Amino acid sequence: MKIAVIGGAGYIGSHTVRELLDRGHEVCVFDNLSSGLEQNLFPEAGFVKGDILHPDEIEKFLKDFKPEGLVHLAAFKAAGESMLNPEKYSVNNITGSINILNAATAAGVKYFVFSSSAATYGSPQYQPVDENHPTNPENYYGYTKLAIEGFLKWYDQLRGIKFAALRYFNAAGYDVKGRINGLEKNPANLIPVVMEALLGKRKELLVFGNDYDTPDGTGVRDYIHVNDLAIGHGMAFDYLQKNNKSLIVNLGVQQGSSVLDVIHMAEKVSGRKCPYRIVERRPGDPATLVANPSKAHEVLGWKAQYSDLETLLATTWRAYLANEK
Ligand code: WQD
Repeated sequence: MKIAVIGGAGYIGSHTVRELLDRGHEVCVFDNLSSGLEQNLFPEAGFVKGDILHPDEIEKFLKDFKPEGLVHLAAFKAAGESMLNPEKYSVNNITGSINILNAATAAGVKYFVFSSSAATYGSPQYQPVDENHPTNPENYYGYTKLAIEGFLKWYDQLRGIKFAALRYFNAAGYDVKGRINGLEKNPANLIPVVMEALLGKRKELLVFGNDYDTPDGTGVRDYIHVNDLAIGHGMAFDYLQKNNKSLIVNLGVQQGSSVLDVIHMAEKVSGRKCPYRIVERRPGDPATLVANPSKAHEVLGWKAQYSDLETLLATTWRAYLANEK
């Protein structure tokens, strides 16, 4: 299938492009390189530099390439920042997505795979979280993702576009074959920060609270390897093509790891010490957030292969070391 990947030079985007190419799809990336990196592009995929906030650019790209499928991962994703600067998230995440949707229907795109988030659920009322869990986002970022799922439902009904909204849990890790090493700029997520502490690029990791109701008191999350996420995108296209029916599905592993679990495994795979200090809780952080991925198993046939903590941290450490050379 011909597939356009909007945001394909980014962290999850580049792993998705690699997977779609490996599955034999013809891929073209559209990215403005604001957080994406040129080094994340593959010569086998086309590349058009453009901005989703310029409707003429995205329209021209889709009219020229004429894809049957599209993946949309072009979004800002810092939950904390979205609460301080909601306008930025409205413009890029919501207006940008509407521009893509309008251009996609005009160009006859049939299948739309959307990078959604567990942030659409908000504070979990029960665990593990399945797709029937109420959606009450606690941050504006999560709201933008939920809003776009809403537009997708309407465009399905009114324009017949079929979508898969993939609600990612905590994406982590780097390509298990070492083909992608572009590091995210200014990371704030736990695992990249742990890497920077191991490398001495920051003095210490601040652990946000050790008084949660979890086995060791630190926050527990469901870390999913980015190769497993990428495979989920490939399977979503297979599903859409076969069933011609839209889908909302969690991508997580139902394996909870605490902040201390992550630190200990990072120390093991790197052979280095991770300096850390316990500080106050970060506002808005739930104690535990773990996915129920049964639906992905049942409807997509998806099962995580690389999401054990050791593979997550060993592949990330290798990518960080590759950048030290
Ligand atoms: C993980 C754990 C922190 C940094 C975020 C977004 C969410 C989703 C995934 C996209 C928590 C602790 C972290 C640090 C720490 N993104 N931590 N010190 O908050 O679960 O989810 O990314 O959809 O929308 O909110 O991920 O990596 O920031 O935190 O102690 O310096 O690590 O408190 O328990 P989070 P995270």
